[in-house]
Amino acid sequence: MPRSNSSQANLGLAAKARNAWGLLRNRLRMASGDEAAAMQIAEIEQHVETFRHVTGKDPAESTVLEIGFGARPRRAFLLSGYFKQVYAIDLDAPVLSLRDAFSTWQSNGIERAVKSVVRHALFDARDWPRFHAAARRRLAAYDPAKVRFVVGPAGDAGSWTEIPPVDFVFSADVFEHIPPAELDAMLALLRKRLSREGLVITLPMVFTGILGGHDPAWTRWTVAARPPSEAWRHLIDPDFAADTYLNKLSRKDFVEAFTRAGFSVERDAAVLGRLGTEHLTEAKLTALPITDEYELFSNRVEFHLR
Ligand SMILES: C[S@@+](CC[C@H](N)C(=O)[O-])C[C@H]1O[C@@H](n2cnc3c(N)ncnc32)[C@H](O)[C@@H]1O
Repeated sequence: MPRSNSSQANLGLAAKARNAWGLLRNRLRMASGDEAAAMQIAEIEQHVETFRHVTGKDPAESTVLEIGFGARPRRAFLLSGYFKQVYAIDLDAPVLSLRDAFSTWQSNGIERAVKSVVRHALFDARDWPRFHAAARRRLAAYDPAKVRFVVGPAGDAGSWTEIPPVDFVFSADVFEHIPPAELDAMLALLRKRLSREGLVITLPMVFTGILGGHDPAWTRWTVAARPPSEAWRHLIDPDFAADTYLNKLSRKDFVEAFTRAGFSVERDAAVLGRLGTEHLTEAKLTALPITDEYELFSNRVEFHLR
């Protein structure tokens, strides 16, 4: 079966069902259509502004690459409203129609296909037209047809043959899912492909943070209400398993990987701040294998690489 990061075969059925329910609940709370477009445009605009400011380049004359666009490639589509060329790479094909959802059966197996069909039927079929209409209203240059999707592992040189030199690379919630050796290979490819003034902004959800175990019950909104005994459980309990592949790299490991690949790390900021500080008691610090706050308050880290 070809690789997909969407689930882990070694997790029991009950745990998978619990995770699926958690993900569904999180999805029901998420914005859709017009609201989603507005929120994501506001987020992307900040990164496009940073690109403009740091590189001095005009996005309308530049090429962008998103690494790990996900099953619903909203960000990649929105980037078409700013950049001349948009490339987007992911291990799994995007699911833009019911036909795409079914075809993931062949490429990624039954579990991923069922998830895709359910998600498409429940949310996306109605959501995409509203999303595109909202994006068109807000971004004059919005053109989803401009996005070139590449399907394959980002650490495989073969996946990069169609991708030209890029000025801006963006990635959110992806690098923590790439095996360490592949991450090194990908960073080496990226280093070669990034233009001289170029910028990489990547926001992995780092394993050492309180959300790093990718348990859907733990989100930035639920942390304060969760049982203290479960805080940072993924670092303490040897039986903890996530329903997705995680490379378990620490924040320091990421910085070292970026540096090894020849990047200079120009920003390293924990965007969720001291999330979970109320759970970091003396007893917790004793139970944890690490006590470094740089790691324990990592979670979503915004790295800028040049
Ligand atoms: C948690 S999702 C995030 C998707 C999207 N960036 C978002 O913020 O919604 C992680 C994505 O990374 C992709 N991915 C994982 N490993 C990858 C690899 N080696 N090469 C390319 N994509 C990968 C997965 O297929 C998945 O779509």
